Amino acid sequence: MSSRIVRTVADLRVALAPLRGEAIGFVPTMGALHEGHLSLLRAARSENATVVLSIFVNPTQFGEAADLAAYPRTEEADVALAEEAGIDLVFAPSPAEMYPAGFATTVSVGGAITDTLEGAFRGRSHFDGVATVVAKLLLAVQPDRAYFGAKDAQQVVVVRRMVSDLGIPVEIVARPTSRDHDGLARSSRNTRLSADERAVAAVIPRSLRAAQDAFASGIRDPNRLASVVRDELTTERLEPEYVEIVDAGSLEPIAEIGAPALLVLAVRVGQVRLIDNVILGVDDLISTTGSLP
Ligand code: PAF
Repeated sequence: MSSRIVRTVADLRVALAPLRGEAIGFVPTMGALHEGHLSLLRAARSENATVVLSIFVNPTQFGEAADLAAYPRTEEADVALAEEAGIDLVFAPSPAEMYPAGFATTVSVGGAITDTLEGAFRGRSHFDGVATVVAKLLLAVQPDRAYFGAKDAQQVVVVRRMVSDLGIPVEIVARPTSRDHDGLARSSRNTRLSADERAVAAVIPRSLRAAQDAFASGIRDPNRLASVVRDELTTERLEPEYVEIVDAGSLEPIAEIGAPALLVLAVRVGQVRLIDNVILGVDDLISTTGSLP
């Protein structure tokens, strides 16, 4: 079936009405689709009768106006790629459709899961923006399953909390981080790296691999493992914002790794801010984090 683009929630409801009764899979995106998104679409395709993709560059989750303005917008190419992945419907609303005049509601997930890491560096308004738009999108699409990439690990934790707290009837499926040939996590932001910066960015997955190796050799002290990562990131072209090892569920700092822990980092490469993570402490690293070289 060739995909249809709908721009309003009313049209989305009409288009989906005859398809309800069988499973609907939903992949929310901000467009600029890359292989990571396509792997989410393929997973949704294989597990659901109907697949809906949303493309909406959500202004409320951006801190810096310049970052929002620079975010790539490639709708035509996105729709073509999504069609190749076999999706049924694209929901591509305008900002005015999502936030009409007088819009006054914010979904705010509290506690450590939004205070730390990305919340600390981007401000908690970032996750307020994410939670609000994801709640609106889930209410509009009402899917059985919604698919998110594990690269945005904190986002997955926050969305799961929100869905559980608000009783939204949807299964949140987290899929492994999709990685480029040199291990760099695929991100729409990668297109903004110069060729030099792209080469330097390959140090990021190498630093995570070094920590995995140190973990495999028996090191369990989070500070030592974080130092392994920081040592790898020592080049003047990279500016680490944080390198943290936290409990994979609560995102709280941990004293020693017993249960699965999340090693998360954010690094600036020139003007571009990249995030990545791996899980430490489970046997099957590949299936949870994507394969590092
Ligand atoms: O991960 C993203 O692309 C965005 O945060 C999302 C989930 C589409 C909400 O705008």
